[in-house]
Amino acid sequence: MSGIVSAAYIAASILFILSLGGLSHQETARRGNLYGIIGMAIAILATIFSDKVSGYAVLIIMMLIGGTLGTIVARRVEMTEMPELVAILHSFVGLAAVLVGFASYLDPNAHYEGVEKTIHEVEIYLGIFIGAVTFTGSVVAFGKLKGLISSKPLMLPARHWINLAIVLVCVWLGKVFLGADSTAGGFFALFVMTLLAFVFGAHLVMAIGGADMPVVISMLNSYSGWAAAATGFMLSNDLLIVTGALVGSSGAILSYIMCRAMNRKFLSVISGGFGTTASSDAEAAEQGEVTQILAEETAELLKDAKEVIIVPGYGMAVAHAQHPVSELTQKLRANGTNVRFAIHPVAGRMPGHMNVLLAEARVPYDIVLEMDEVNDDFPETDVAIVIGANDIVNPSALENPNSPIAGMPVLEVWKAKICIVSKRSMATGYAGVENPLFFKENTRMLFGDAKDSVETVLKSL
Ligand code: TAP
Repeated sequence: MSGIVSAAYIAASILFILSLGGLSHQETARRGNLYGIIGMAIAILATIFSDKVSGYAVLIIMMLIGGTLGTIVARRVEMTEMPELVAILHSFVGLAAVLVGFASYLDPNAHYEGVEKTIHEVEIYLGIFIGAVTFTGSVVAFGKLKGLISSKPLMLPARHWINLAIVLVCVWLGKVFLGADSTAGGFFALFVMTLLAFVFGAHLVMAIGGADMPVVISMLNSYSGWAAAATGFMLSNDLLIVTGALVGSSGAILSYIMCRAMNRKFLSVISGGFGTTASSDAEAAEQGEVTQILAEETAELLKDAKEVIIVPGYGMAVAHAQHPVSELTQKLRANGTNVRFAIHPVAGRMPGHMNVLLAEARVPYDIVLEMDEVNDDFPETDVAIVIGANDIVNPSALENPNSPIAGMPVLEVWKAKICIVSKRSMATGYAGVENPLFFKENTRMLFGDAKDSVETVLKSL
């Protein structure tokens, strides 16, 4: 039986790798998802029928409850709420690692001696530590994204010292744990470390605010992978080790890509505090008047334009404007206009957010371009249309070294001949930073809900 299980685990591992490969391109994402589903089905079946599993009644009941809850939540969740869902799912992985760690330590059937015992205890200690940090960190991230906790960073005095002290005490407790001569003594050290790791995870994420949240989610994704890998070591389950390592490393790579997209150093993201410096009133006062435009005038401009670039942002998702935007694209293309989409790596509220919405509205993949592919083309563009985006088109990121988003690469829409911005008001975006784009001479503000605005433009066309 164990040979069949190993073969099934290898097959599942290969399918997970193919799944990740598939998910990296829009054209193959559907196939990637399917590989993932098949891989997971094989993994679950192989595990259930392996020699290590008994107690099928409890297992089936729990799987039914979990499966039903998962289906209900996945069906109900809005695209814009996806990061919250991901955050809370990471917290489950973290909590599972903690529980498996304690169960492994207290397992009366486990008999390890000498070096094996030490290695097993190190796995348990690390698994519980990473799991506990992931658990409370993810719960706080969920609370912040859901608005249950203020998204402002919590800046305790000497917070870095507090974190360092917690880590040092945890290292010391690890020594106590490994040297303990009774289960009760070891359990006590493990328990105190778990409490400290809970505080550490919560404190770490409480200090991170505003625009750094996406990086935190992918960082917690990575942690949850390492927690799963540690669980795999504790349970001697090769598949869990492979899957955990895949999740851990892909989350870490994604965090790195996002940091690069925001021009932030990973360590400075983790140390928190971003988004606290508000722009000064003087700066706001200096900006002057905005020029408004009506939907009918927008339609006239678009009729004559040869080159159009559309920049979607979070507001397009909120307004569900992707379908009229897709219709607008078709109409303009039929009129001989070259229409392209410019996607900023952190547009919206999760990686790939805009790509998913545009694909859902059947916008052809080949006109949806990444920031680097299209950013140099704005000077030759007749009309740039910004739909519900704000931070990702903010020139102060490049022009004002004191801006909280200074250094973040942005889409340079102001270089187009005319830039039309569709949003409801003069409100700031996610990072809470004023946007000088709205006051530029060649910018026209198309105020109103993005869906209504685009539909009116369509009617006028
Ligand atoms: P934001 O900067 O958040 O701006 C979105 C704009 O959409 C707002 O200024 C809002 O202005 C407008 N809006 C909201 N509802 C609208 C509606 N119904 N119709 C029209 N406009 C509407 O979005 P962005 O430019 O996409 O930038 C993303 C930001 O989120 C970045 O700061 C990024 O770091 C952060 N973030 C990204 C992610 C990922 S991974 N993508 C995850 C979390 C956070 P009005 O209120 O005036 O309408």
